Amino acid sequence: MNAVVQQAINEQINNEFFSSYSYLAMSAYCERKQFTGCAQWLRMQSQEEYGHAMRLYDFLAARNGIVQLQAIREPAGEYGSIAEVFQAALEQERTVTKQIDSLYELAFNEKAFSALVELEWFINEQVEEEKTASVIVHKFSMVKDDPAALLDLDRELGSRGAPQAAE
Ligand SMILES: [Fe+2]
Ligand SMILES: [Fe+2]
Repeated sequence: MNAVVQQAINEQINNEFFSSYSYLAMSAYCERKQFTGCAQWLRMQSQEEYGHAMRLYDFLAARNGIVQLQAIREPAGEYGSIAEVFQAALEQERTVTKQIDSLYELAFNEKAFSALVELEWFINEQVEEEKTASVIVHKFSMVKDDPAALLDLDRELGSRGAPQAAE
């Protein structure tokens, strides 16, 4: 396994775990503010990010690579409002898109073809992730401080089920 690509994938494993941790902290904030639907949505998203980390982990394992787990940094736990949480989620997804793009570029330059194929899944996934987050941000911007509409939105987000296993 190409050492440079392996190291970069290990870094992305850490990024995905950070993303998972960050969504969990967002979920805890919403739980505390009694927006249990938002909390549920974010908790499911946290699980999905865990799945992304494990997808790369499994890829390294399948290629006889070395999985090197690193410390996960502390995520933000305080937000000004529930709407701000989802704005932060959208920004986080945009950051991850950039990380995936650079990882893809690196794998391309290193001619790591199997990694390129694996990373294509992530490129598609980021298109979905950014779209989903921006739709929610838009909904919060429409709802503003209308309590009835906020409760409806919370209920809608709470209907999200557990993520399906990868494959
Ligand atoms: Fe992810
Ligand atoms: Fe994501």
